[in-house]
Amino acid sequence: MGLNVIMMGPPGAGKGTQAGRFARARGLLKISTGDILREAIREQNPVALGAKAGMDRGELVDDATMITIVRERLLKPDAAPGFVLDGFPRTVAQARALDEIVAERDNGPLIVVDVVVPEAELARRLASRRICSKCGTNADPFGAAATCTKCGGELVQRTDDDREVVLERLKVYHRATKPVLEYYRERPTFRVVNGAQPPERVAHEMDTLIDDAAAAGVAMKAERQAL
Ligand code: AP5
Repeated sequence: MGLNVIMMGPPGAGKGTQAGRFARARGLLKISTGDILREAIREQNPVALGAKAGMDRGELVDDATMITIVRERLLKPDAAPGFVLDGFPRTVAQARALDEIVAERDNGPLIVVDVVVPEAELARRLASRRICSKCGTNADPFGAAATCTKCGGELVQRTDDDREVVLERLKVYHRATKPVLEYYRERPTFRVVNGAQPPERVAHEMDTLIDDAAAAGVAMKAERQAL
């Protein structure tokens, strides 16, 4: 059975950091919708360029565009063993569409991890975050490198990490994305992790929670088959 994980949580919770680490550790495909959009903007893709102004204001890209992007990516063969999704779903409509895609793939349930961090800490992380202007990688927040350690690119502030935009992103999160947590909360494969700890501590707790949720998913499937 595939391991299908989604990372939920507000902007700056550490979804991308943990999704990348977990996917590397388990040999899974990591899909970050924010990274896909930013890369498409760097490549001057017309659809992504059309979405850029809204993203820079902290707004969401429309559901139809995002569902099409994720659907195409998840149905490719390299996603068959499982995936780690970061940044999707962000609305209940996207969550419903993801359930349909997962049912179509028929390779294990969704494991939902909600990364919880207080707002003051989110604001602190996003104000100090720097990313590479060339490859988009987050700089190590605890490191002192002046350029990107991956490609040597210049480190810059992300265009949507401006203080006012962060406040708007948090509002959008509460309005559009928090209801997605309620959509998932009663599932046996829903887990919450305290993201306000050092990254390696979050990683350790997350590994245990995900393995536990995967076991619950297997039990859920066996129960359904026995009916
Ligand atoms: P997206 O890129 O997904 O942004 P986000 O959800 O706001 O999340 P962030 O990337 O800001 O934070 P994160 O939780 O990944 O934290 P990170 O690991 O980077 O989306 C951007 C935009 O794209 C959206 O606003 C929207 O316009 C559009 N979009 C994307 N998906 C969409 C969708 N599905 N529908 C519609 N629109 C969509 O960490 C943050 C910082 O904290 C880093 O500096 C990191 O190094 C540091 N850090 C991480 N963990 C820790 C820790 N434990 N302790 C201390 N520092 C830490």
